Amino acid sequence: MGKASAQVDEIRLWSRLMDMAAIGATPKGGVNRAALSAEDNQARRRLADWSNELGFETGIDEIGNLYVRRAGRDADLPPIVTGSHLDSQPTGGKFDGAYGVIGGFEALEAIERAGIETRHPIEVVAWTNEEGGRFQPGCMGSFVFIGEKSVADIAAITDSGGITVSSALAETLAAFDDLPRRALATPVAAYVEAHIEQGPRLEDTCKTIGVVTGIQGQRCFSVEITGEEAHAGTTPLAIRKDALKAAMSMISALETIMADETDTVRFTVGRFEVYPCSPNVVPGRVFFTIDFRHPEEAVIAHLTDQIEAICTANARGCDVDVQETVRNTPARFDPDVIATVRQSAERLSLAQMDMPSGATHDALYLARVCPTGMIFIPCAGGVSHNEAESATASDLAAGVKVLADTLVDLAT
Ligand code: HGY
Ligand code: MN
Ligand code: MN
Repeated sequence: MGKASAQVDEIRLWSRLMDMAAIGATPKGGVNRAALSAEDNQARRRLADWSNELGFETGIDEIGNLYVRRAGRDADLPPIVTGSHLDSQPTGGKFDGAYGVIGGFEALEAIERAGIETRHPIEVVAWTNEEGGRFQPGCMGSFVFIGEKSVADIAAITDSGGITVSSALAETLAAFDDLPRRALATPVAAYVEAHIEQGPRLEDTCKTIGVVTGIQGQRCFSVEITGEEAHAGTTPLAIRKDALKAAMSMISALETIMADETDTVRFTVGRFEVYPCSPNVVPGRVFFTIDFRHPEEAVIAHLTDQIEAICTANARGCDVDVQETVRNTPARFDPDVIATVRQSAERLSLAQMDMPSGATHDALYLARVCPTGMIFIPCAGGVSHNEAESATASDLAAGVKVLADTLVDLAT
């Protein structure tokens, strides 16, 4: 019985990744697979078909997480789990998320082909709505799975078209009513997720494998500013309640406190909506989001605790409502899982380095319920959340080889 990594097939992996990238493909070579959309369901069905072709068990839970299970010697033992997400950003890339799902599936096939019998079952999961592009917040599938929130807690969240999570989810579950239903919050023995780095460090240092030590903290807010629509030609500036000008003052004042010469602070205004968005109407309402990240909890608290006061101080006569939408303390991964990943990379003589994750992943939530780790591979220029995202076939396969051997070590 050989090593699982020896059965990882670079061409098979690449062709499945390109197969998946055709679902929701965008003209500039990326993908747009919004959570619980027709494209997202099509991607799930492709995975379920591959699973059935190989005789693995396939299931779905009430938040739409899709499971592919390879039996172990002892069915009562909790599974070793890998996976990631199939939903994408609107201008997403071919590999963000899809690599962890299809790479996990390739690892499962390699273990099968190697004829390795493991004690624990091994599962690949496609988590619902990791990206949070259509429905906020992201990582809905994994935080509902671990019981942090229930489906009822998020059912009424709507997308920009007013469609609720519950109605989109009902359509997805109806589309997969042929699959056995899986329970939420089932025990997991360990979780390892493979992902592109989404940053430049591995490429800059000529390393193939990132042995991920944890995920930086994140705090997000929505800011709703209510002023007064008025005529652009007749209304004196002195009496305007201009929601756009107020937003500009707020963001400029926030940029001042976020200034950081070490370039460690990540402060992003990613969504900015102006109403009624007519050239000759003073904007009466503005909505924008804040995504703040940093590796140190104390810095997160110090800087983000100032946000509401700064927005209020720059409201310029408008009303302002600041709501926290995400709060995640920095996650530390399990030392034994980290060591197992590192050992697998060493045995494969792959250049590797320990590193934290700047991006959030479903692994952040799994780390709250089981020993967790991640495996990174380089992506060109560190570019991600961009249609130009790319990775080489050999790096993609190298990451899956490390994953396959790590899963076997953990499941034996
Ligand atoms: O935003 C994130 O960190 C993840 O890529 N969705
Ligand atoms: Mn991702
Ligand atoms: Mn992403």
